[in-house]
Amino acid sequence: MSSPELVPGLAGIPAAESSVSFIDGQAGILEYRGYAIEELSANSSYEEVAWLLLYGELPTAEELQAFREDLGRLRLVPDALVNMVQAFPVTAHPMQALQASLAGLGMVSPKVDLKDAASRDEAVRRVIAVTPVLVAMFERVRAGKDYVAPKADLSTAANFLWCLDGEAPDDVAVRTLDCALILHAEHTMNASTFACRVVASTENDPYTSCSGAVGALFGPLHGGANERVLKQLATIDGVDGVEAWYDNKAEKKEKVMGFGHRVYKTKDPRAKNLQNLANELFGKLGATPKFQVALKLEEVVTKKLGGRGIYPNVDFFSGLVYEKLGLQTDVFTPIFAMARVAGYCAHWMEQMEDNKLFRPAQIYTGKRERPYPVS
Ligand code: CMC
Repeated sequence: MSSPELVPGLAGIPAAESSVSFIDGQAGILEYRGYAIEELSANSSYEEVAWLLLYGELPTAEELQAFREDLGRLRLVPDALVNMVQAFPVTAHPMQALQASLAGLGMVSPKVDLKDAASRDEAVRRVIAVTPVLVAMFERVRAGKDYVAPKADLSTAANFLWCLDGEAPDDVAVRTLDCALILHAEHTMNASTFACRVVASTENDPYTSCSGAVGALFGPLHGGANERVLKQLATIDGVDGVEAWYDNKAEKKEKVMGFGHRVYKTKDPRAKNLQNLANELFGKLGATPKFQVALKLEEVVTKKLGGRGIYPNVDFFSGLVYEKLGLQTDVFTPIFAMARVAGYCAHWMEQMEDNKLFRPAQIYTGKRERPYPVS
């Protein structure tokens, strides 16, 4: 039998059968359970989308109400976990804090019975409910501020902003964040979702599986790109400096953050939606000069690299939106994570329904049968 050929990064190799979401990378289509994200972001709430991802159908009004109440109830964090997060070094990156605190959530939660649907449901709902609270909690810890306890009657987006500031959030900020959460909630078999399924496949609960996934999301080639986009825009000398800045990057063979995608070879549909969201937000609250620089950068990069299928991805406009909402740059990726846990949990449930331990092969390139040097 001939040995299998290595496919670097497993590009194009199916790792599972899944009915959670669908991408057409050539046409720029993304659907959650068959619904276009454009329609979901225009008409749904994050909670409705989380339910859809978990259970495959849009919820009825009664199901949605009960789900919201459940998330509100599960949001309350035991003191032991608050104490744990408050002991984290304030110099930690918020993604490191989130990875550790999701593992911590597993330590303070009831043991999950993987064979029991109610136990599985409660665990995934707890992850979705508590993750935003954990992100906000560490934001306050590192700012030297007291913990703000969550409110059960607020939406996920509103409660996150409440836990961050301890003040009633404004409606524009809540709707903008809600929409951004919908757009980030799921995205087929990306690196962190795959990581989640690999961890799940050893029969792990959703706390450990999502903690592992958050570690994979942290890297600059994945979710970590969004904070780098803003840092990158800050190094460009206005709209007139974009061409020279790009030429310099290209000469040094450096990648432009927020562009390119393993699957999309056209503009990422989420980038289009986030651009519209940025337009609306800046229309209401006033534009930032960085937005004009970003639009020019898109024009220049598309002209130079569009022919190779390199266009803006989800991370290109999201940071501009979050910055306008007053959020810290290094909390952008945790916001991505707090949205994406809905997708991770949907994949975790799918993995549990028909689990097979991930155990790929390797192509061995080392030495063999070497004589041990006996002196
Ligand atoms: N800027 C300049 N050149 C690029 C870029 C970019 N952003 N992306 C890809 N290329 C070039 C790359 O240099 C390489 O060129 P060559 O063949 O001459 O060596 C070629 O395109 C293929 O690149 P690759 O990295 O092997 O391709 P990939 O399919 O693995 O790329 C990617 C996907 C996301 C890793 C890559 O586009 C990238 O690093 N982008 C910048 C980081 C970024 O924005 N990441 C967010 C991804 S979307 C959100 C998420 O998944 O979390």
